[in-house]
Amino acid sequence: MKTRAMVLRAHGGPDVLREEDVDVGDPGAGQALIRQTAIGLNFVDVYYRSGQFGAHDSVPLPAILGVQGAGVVEALGSEPHGLAVGDRVAYVGQPGAYAERRLVPANRLLRLPANVSDELAAASLLRGLTCEYLLRRLYKVQPGDQIVIHAAAGGLGLIACQWAKALGATVIGTVGSDEKAALAAAHGCDHPIVYTREDFVARVMEITGGRGVPVVYDSVGRDTFLRSLDCLRPMGLAVNFGTASGQVEPFPLQLLHRKSLFVTRPTLTSWIAAREDYEKAAAAFFAAIDSGAIKVQVGARYRLQDVGRAHADLESRQMSGLPVLVP
Ligand SMILES: NC(=O)c1ccc[n+]([C@@H]2O[C@H](COP(=O)([O-])OP(=O)(O)OC[C@H]3O[C@@H](n4cnc5c(N)ncnc54)[C@H](OP(=O)(O)O)[C@@H]3O)[C@@H](O)[C@H]2O)c1
Repeated sequence: MKTRAMVLRAHGGPDVLREEDVDVGDPGAGQALIRQTAIGLNFVDVYYRSGQFGAHDSVPLPAILGVQGAGVVEALGSEPHGLAVGDRVAYVGQPGAYAERRLVPANRLLRLPANVSDELAAASLLRGLTCEYLLRRLYKVQPGDQIVIHAAAGGLGLIACQWAKALGATVIGTVGSDEKAALAAAHGCDHPIVYTREDFVARVMEITGGRGVPVVYDSVGRDTFLRSLDCLRPMGLAVNFGTASGQVEPFPLQLLHRKSLFVTRPTLTSWIAAREDYEKAAAAFFAAIDSGAIKVQVGARYRLQDVGRAHADLESRQMSGLPVLVP
């Protein structure tokens, strides 16, 4: 069977993604064929498109980018892992999402509850699962914690602010503009800092009475990471989980000595590798949506063939909230 897909044949700017008809194939053992109704767009797609892989594995070309989507199971191979044709499902972490139809390992599909639409799942699941491990497992956010979240008005940032707030934290968030500050504030960020004009370290120290914070969640990378260390209290944890501004430059380990600091560079892949962890993380995220603790809304819709424009918006920092591609 043929399907319409956006294909990458050479790394480059947003316009290198081109529409093509590609073969999907029949589902083999342990595979499901899904017709996608919504496709996620994540910053990691920009790293893969541009060839700035950094911490990520390179992909052989030609490639179909995108790692997240939702849709309906159309056919199953043997070993269907409890799925049935017609099930409404979503997945994260499976390259090849920018297509109308695709094969996915059945054991990486999650059945969607009635309260979560396909669009919402495609737009938010990867970011939601990332927030789950960052806030509940890697560091367990406690009531009364003051914490820093960079890019607080981004797709992931808005979920992180709300979840951290629901866990009882005071959220200090950095954002690129006044409009984004207002958006972050409306999503649980107690102290938005416009880091393009304010010294965020000085503001964090002012807000915490000079104590610093126990954890900084830094997805910006090169432009912020070393200064994120300055925001920490003794024995604090700096989490570099993204590189929107570029890779963190090598730095002397001795920098950690003065305050006995911890540093980690995690990836969602490790934290949901076990099916049990994947299901539990998704259940926690869906429950947080159901309880109203987290409100997720699709921020921008793009047709699949306009994915280049979506990439350009994401890279230019013009986007806030959750984007989705509609096949
Ligand atoms: N490690 C993991 O497990 C994991 C999983 C998922 C996502 N991530 C990371 O989480 C981050 C958020 O992902 P997202 O898809 O929701 O993206 P996003 O936050 O919506 O977009 C990235 C944001 O980074 C900020 N930024 C700062 N400097 C930038 C620069 N030079 N160029 C572009 N953006 C810059 C911008 O916000 P301001 O304008 O407000 O600064 C921009 O909106 C990404 O870094 C992604 O790689 C990591």
